[in-house]
Amino acid sequence: MLASSDTKTNHTGTRKNDTLASRPYYLTTPIYYVNDRPHIGHAYTTLACDVLARFKRLDGFDVHFLTGTDEHGQKVEKSAKAAGVDPQAFTDEVSQNFRRLTEDMNYSNDDFIRTTEERHVRAAQAIWRAIEDNGHIYLDSYSGWYAVRDEAFYAESELEENADGQKIAPSGAEVEWVEEPSYFFDLSKWQQPLLDFYAANPNFIGPDTRRNEVVRFVEGGLKDLSISRTSFNWGIPVPDDPDHIMYVWLDALTNYLTAVGYPEKENPNYVEYWPADLHMVGKDIVRFHAVYWPAFLMAAGMAPPKRVYAHGWLLNRGEKMSKSLGNVVLPQDLVERYGLDPVRYYLLREVPFGNDGYISHETMVSRINGDLANDIGNLAQRSLSMIAKNCGGMVPRPGTFTADDKALLAAAAGALDSARSEFDRQAFHRGLEAIWRVVGDANRYVDAQAPWELRKSDPPRMATVLYTLLETIRRLAILIQPVMPFGAAAMLDQLAVPADARDFTHLAPNHALVAGVALPKPSPVFPRYVDEEVTE
Ligand code: MSP
Repeated sequence: MLASSDTKTNHTGTRKNDTLASRPYYLTTPIYYVNDRPHIGHAYTTLACDVLARFKRLDGFDVHFLTGTDEHGQKVEKSAKAAGVDPQAFTDEVSQNFRRLTEDMNYSNDDFIRTTEERHVRAAQAIWRAIEDNGHIYLDSYSGWYAVRDEAFYAESELEENADGQKIAPSGAEVEWVEEPSYFFDLSKWQQPLLDFYAANPNFIGPDTRRNEVVRFVEGGLKDLSISRTSFNWGIPVPDDPDHIMYVWLDALTNYLTAVGYPEKENPNYVEYWPADLHMVGKDIVRFHAVYWPAFLMAAGMAPPKRVYAHGWLLNRGEKMSKSLGNVVLPQDLVERYGLDPVRYYLLREVPFGNDGYISHETMVSRINGDLANDIGNLAQRSLSMIAKNCGGMVPRPGTFTADDKALLAAAAGALDSARSEFDRQAFHRGLEAIWRVVGDANRYVDAQAPWELRKSDPPRMATVLYTLLETIRRLAILIQPVMPFGAAAMLDQLAVPADARDFTHLAPNHALVAGVALPKPSPVFPRYVDEEVTE
């Protein structure tokens, strides 16, 4: 079950729930730049993590789920200037939009970190010192290209040209020439250790296409990395040299350590949760997480994370979302129009996770009316109304189960294994597909068994069929909780399943519904979406 608010991590780093001696699972979202309002692309990354965090909690893990905001650097400083506000006041305000998003989307994060917090400044300076003490930092000067939008340095050879003949980054971002004194990290020395690390940890980067890209990039040779800036000052001062501020990516990546109590390595959260189990990122920031970050950590004497997974981009009808194209989709607008659970389901079901994917009104409506209203909603509503009418509103008493009954119940129990193995490799769409295969089986079973015909001809068999359906629905409702927490809870309430009997251990047959238990009056859980334009 979800950690209740009184067992959540506090910022002094005490452990979330000392009574839980279960397996730790630490997962993180990227921390979001506070230069803009959160859009559906940001909501998507955190949603995937939220679903995984909920899944793992229900599966008995002691989950620590972190998200937050990336508040330093030139890009944020520029946005603050453009807004005519001082950067701290600016970040205080914009960060709230991301915090609010966690409520609007019903995310179950255990912590929300801001890189301007004192705990983080301490951690970032500590990792700098650790890397420096181990001899991996030297002072020199940087002259080269920098893209403020990406907060990234690019080699001349990586640059492309736009239609006007201007040099641009491979991401399309504008680049500027920078010359300034700078500290460097000896990244070039980490080529072989990184390649060895990737070879020894084949699951470190997912999906495979990204892994291959990263390995090729590292095999191509690594240059030492500039890790401080002197031409502006919105950042964390370099220890003992405040003319320099830390490169925003070194600062930002360290948030994953800050949140588990670093630099106190004896902090129970650090002991329990580091190395992180999963950093979820978008494909645009793989290099930072899969190359720089493990190198920084190894240089500082810490273990790299266990896995980095890079998902694709959400495209609005095939186009990248941007303010200039005016096609940015706001998560709150989608939720208001379609409802929160349907939006959560749609985003993870429609787009194969890892690929770029289109979102559109048409595909949203087709998922809502097909997968949700017709397939699972109607299944529950039909079964529950038949029980309300014909079984006195109580869980019916089953007789002997036939092979068909047993096959359906077994499929519903077996969906956990399939969903787990798919979710563990972040194939959320496949995990949901596996659950919906059982929904399909259950619908075919109702049609084949035709319980409405058994009402007169064979009432005991009708009771067995309705029981089998109800028990299948219970298992399905337990399984869909991570994706649609409200809808699943409503379904489980209608089956009178107590709140403490909803984790995955309760999928086992010994927790099956008990005949004779009174059920509340049924009401539809997943309504159809009716398009106003069409009905007018
Ligand atoms: N601040 C850095 C991350 C630092 S992590 C130590 C950053 N921030 S970001 O706000 O620009 O992007 C955060 C995440 O949102 C990235 O993973 C990015 O891929 C994701 N998305 C932004 N737009 C997106 C879409 N349109 N679709 C899917 N995800 C996209 O990078």
